Amino acid sequence: MINKNKSLTVVANWKMNNDFNSSLDLVIKIFSYCNMIKSVEKIICPPLVNIIPLYDQFKNSSFSLGAQNINENKNGPYTGETSVNMLKNYISHAIVGHSERRAGFHENNYNIKLKTQALLDENIVPIVCIGESIEIYERKKSIDFLNVQIREIFSEINTTNEIIIAYEPIWSIGNKNPADPKYVEMIISKSKDYISSIKNLKDAKLKMLYGGSVNSKNILSYTNQKNIDGVLVGSASLNASEFGKMILKISSNE
Ligand code: PGA
Repeated sequence: MINKNKSLTVVANWKMNNDFNSSLDLVIKIFSYCNMIKSVEKIICPPLVNIIPLYDQFKNSSFSLGAQNINENKNGPYTGETSVNMLKNYISHAIVGHSERRAGFHENNYNIKLKTQALLDENIVPIVCIGESIEIYERKKSIDFLNVQIREIFSEINTTNEIIIAYEPIWSIGNKNPADPKYVEMIISKSKDYISSIKNLKDAKLKMLYGGSVNSKNILSYTNQKNIDGVLVGSASLNASEFGKMILKISSNE
């Protein structure tokens, strides 16, 4: 049953898709489908180069603008990187620790902890991705693995701010193999229990989302679980009518 007191969050991760013109086109179409829906928190994370040019569109909308990654340093000799400081006037959220960045750009829990802290320092809400590989899942070691990720990222973070954690099992990403909603509910409920044992986070406002092949057909099977506070959507967020349908579905729960 849906928890009526739960406010749901939907994050669109566009990854490295869309030049400025197609980003603008997609934003305009998505807004035309569901800008009027205020009951769902909606965050779009376009490619970094499109964030500032899109800012004016978002300013007077019901959507928030987020980044897909940031550098943990304030400034300095980090060729090709972008700091929180450079984006903080434009974004309210930023994804950190996505499995594609861990796999392709050698990010680890230590970098992700620093990125999370850098965002919290500027009152930007971090959307911290965690998730296990298929090997760990098959060995039934997911909980142990996720607890290590959570501990290494959060045990020294002291905050009362909002934190979003996105549970994205690596094997479910890519619009092929969505995880079983009951399994996700079990993982998220156990992860929330584990996080509540971390003393310095006891006053943080925590939300936990699921990500991995979410679409308009399966979204309610996740959002209707008691502990799942929303979803992080990749592929399906690149299609305006599909993404709009997802928002409409969870706002009406049908
Ligand atoms: P997907 O991507 O929805 O295409 O599976 C999710 C993600 O990688 O964040």
